[in-house]
Amino acid sequence: MAASEKALNQADANLDGALERLFELIRIPSISADSNYAGDCRKAAEWIAADLAGLGFEAGTRETDGQPMVVAHWRGKTTAPGPHVLFYGHYDVQPADPANLWKRDAFDPALIEGKTGKIIHGRGSSDDKGQLMTFVEACRALIQTTGELPVPVSILIEGEEESGSVNLGPFLDRNTDELKADLALVCDTAMWDRKTPAITTMLRGLVFEEVIVTAANRDLHSGLYGGAAQNPIRVLTHILAALHDDHGKVTLPGFYDGVPDLPNSVRKQWAALDFPEEQFLADVGLSVPAGEDNHSALEQLWSRPTCDVNGIVGGYIGEGSKTVIPSQASAKISFRLVGDQDPAAIRQAFRDFVRERLPADCSAEFLSHAASPAIMLDMSGPAVSAASGALADEWGKEAALIGMGGSIPIVGDFKRRLGLDALMIGFALEDDAIHSPNEKYELSSFRGGIRSWVRILDALKDSAA
Ligand code: BES
Ligand code: MN
Ligand code: MN
Repeated sequence: MAASEKALNQADANLDGALERLFELIRIPSISADSNYAGDCRKAAEWIAADLAGLGFEAGTRETDGQPMVVAHWRGKTTAPGPHVLFYGHYDVQPADPANLWKRDAFDPALIEGKTGKIIHGRGSSDDKGQLMTFVEACRALIQTTGELPVPVSILIEGEEESGSVNLGPFLDRNTDELKADLALVCDTAMWDRKTPAITTMLRGLVFEEVIVTAANRDLHSGLYGGAAQNPIRVLTHILAALHDDHGKVTLPGFYDGVPDLPNSVRKQWAALDFPEEQFLADVGLSVPAGEDNHSALEQLWSRPTCDVNGIVGGYIGEGSKTVIPSQASAKISFRLVGDQDPAAIRQAFRDFVRERLPADCSAEFLSHAASPAIMLDMSGPAVSAASGALADEWGKEAALIGMGGSIPIVGDFKRRLGLDALMIGFALEDDAIHSPNEKYELSSFRGGIRSWVRILDALKDSAA
């Protein structure tokens, strides 16, 4: 029996244990956005480092200004000398609120019956604990059956991806030599559908801003002051409403600088994917694509930039009514970027846009969160063909080359700071409800993901460029 065949069998034989390990990890509420969970982030990092050390990796956690990193290197035998891969994933998860919409506690994982088979319930089951464990379990199966890995493997798991990976860039710069590799493998993306594997070739970038508008120096009675006093909610909503025109275009000056036209070859490739636009929207209770006129929903998702208000607060929102003119109103706003759009320029354009529109007696304060440019990967290398072949062997179907509307801030930094190309392969499904209540990962994704990585690692050993 070929080595990879044995490892595939071993992966299946290990599946119950693999689920138990994933459940342990999901039980740790490692929410990076909320400082109350910093201890749990550390616990998750230590749990992963210990698991990898148990497999024979040289593994540990590393301090940063934020949540710790997990770094591991395989120092044991390898079948081939290269390519050396650096696997990336994230152990942090999104907050679980609103808690009352979960059918079962977000951090109480279980294998339950879903619409299309068994599903793993829990926050992080798909994004990204289940996904990162597919790779760890693949290594486990290979090590247990062959005592070696097909190629040299290093692993970097961060704990701040959901907060914009702000400390990862500097960490890469400080540890360039240690993290040198030939190729990054990223398991944080989705399949095309539950039967069709995918390699993601494009991701959108992201700029996230928070703006706080202040008017009066205290909350006011809306009868005693209403009319004469400036209302910061009115000011803020007026400005936010001006960010789009009637055709769905973003009105910030210079916003479309660097947005490329979709090449015809890509347009054709995407048309052939036969994206079920109506069903995609119907699944979430919608019917009409809300982006720019003259672009299909798939183009709006993968190749066009956006501006969205992600949250807005101000004034009284408790039970009953309170006649108040608040002193402050604030909003969180994000822009998804494509092509060569410059995150810093867009942040500046947004701030200028707001400041220019502030009436007398109002001031604005800005907090900057994530910033990352869009990613477009070169799909012509030998690693891509090796991985496509391995995915086709596992799933019995060619891998689709797809775009993705989401962002993984660090992928651009791998290229810029380490000179590393990335291969983005994940097994999530569109309806996994990542970032939403009742997040799940299908058992078929978990098992197929583990088996896929066994095959991909094995195929990479013959792909050294
Ligand atoms: N894994 C997602 C991004 C993703 C989702 C890529 C689905 C492809 C398919 C990632 O964890 C994520 O949520 N990214 C954030 C980044 C932000 C918080 C800085 C995003 O896209 O909003
Ligand atoms: Mn993720
Ligand atoms: Mn996420």
